[in-house]
Amino acid sequence: MIQAKSYLDTSPSIFGYMSALAKEHNAINLTQGAPDFKTPEWLIERFNYYAKKGFNQYSPIPGATELKKAIAHQVQRNYDVSLDSDDNIMITCGAVEGIFSVLMAYVQKNEEVIYFDPAFDAYPCIVNMIQGISRRLDLKDNGQIDIAAIANAINDKTRVIILNSPHNPMGSVITKEEYQEIAKLVKGKDILVLSDEVYEYIYQGEHFTSALEVEELKDQLVVVQSLGKTYNTTGWRVGTCIAPKAILPHLLAVKQFTSFCAPNPIQLAFADGINQHPEYEKNLPRLYQQQRTKFVDTLKDSQFKVLPWQGSPFQMLDYSHLSDENDLTFCTRLIKEYGIGLVPISSLYETAKHGLVRVCFAKYDDVLLDGAKKLCSIPTTKSIEIS
Ligand SMILES: Cc1ncc(COP(=O)(O)O)c(C=O)c1O
Repeated sequence: MIQAKSYLDTSPSIFGYMSALAKEHNAINLTQGAPDFKTPEWLIERFNYYAKKGFNQYSPIPGATELKKAIAHQVQRNYDVSLDSDDNIMITCGAVEGIFSVLMAYVQKNEEVIYFDPAFDAYPCIVNMIQGISRRLDLKDNGQIDIAAIANAINDKTRVIILNSPHNPMGSVITKEEYQEIAKLVKGKDILVLSDEVYEYIYQGEHFTSALEVEELKDQLVVVQSLGKTYNTTGWRVGTCIAPKAILPHLLAVKQFTSFCAPNPIQLAFADGINQHPEYEKNLPRLYQQQRTKFVDTLKDSQFKVLPWQGSPFQMLDYSHLSDENDLTFCTRLIKEYGIGLVPISSLYETAKHGLVRVCFAKYDDVLLDGAKKLCSIPTTKSIEIS
């Protein structure tokens, strides 16, 4: 048989696997990272409009001019940062294409990429694919990044540090001070910071801090965003990649021979949506905060421990009071016996850790509260120790 490259990982992602298992058993599905919320009607209307008008051919490789300008405005209104829509913005097929482009363009064989565990599964897979080396660090127990660990891990082979805020799956965010500390560590070195901010509109409180707001990082920073996550259109596959002028051409060189461009009528629809509906992104954090509160309030009657949350559509639960099972066995049993699908996260670590599961709470009340009630009905299988 013709051999494929041995370092390609052909195993299915844990998210897809658990979601398929939940569907197979007709379980309430709190596994998927895609929001269940409705796509705004005005966005669908604009998409129809441009498709019917005949805007169905390639856009320019960096993206439709209208969308790049709209993104520059959006970044200005949210983060008070000025971007040049031609020099700094590339429209991608999902945020993951932005991540791929950065790693492909900047990491050579045996060069190192630093990121924290538990990590979104695309990071190790892409690093493997390009024969780079992952330097995986542990988030602190409260989900925060560990600056001293980054300082320790940086060496002559380090090319990229991937940060993810709000974090999937831990729900933590990175502070401005932490970004400033990282800026000091990379200053004058050949190291890029890749900030994955796909959940930028899902956070606690009044304001999310983007790495874009950190002046000291400006020349070494690439930020990826996901219009799919923000507008409940993950299947439309549109994201953005924001980079310094000197870096963007190298990302475009990769993009030219991967997707070439994101779908044109969809880009034009997003441009109108972003310009005409700034209230949408203002209201989004409230919707998520409200759904999370309802979910967590209902879980007060359960034996799960709710971990702290600052952002992302994910709530982490500690089940170690309930069971000694490894997380895959535990989640599989919950689907089969209780009809509720959660994600085990041990596979998102270099060295598996058990006892935690991830819930996606981007659901309307009926599904979300039914799911929470099912979780309340799960008894402990741990034997009581008699001293
Ligand atoms: C942390 C993180 N980054 C990137 C992505 C990919 O986003 P997109 O669907 O826009 O490619 C995801 C999707 O789940 C994610 O959780």
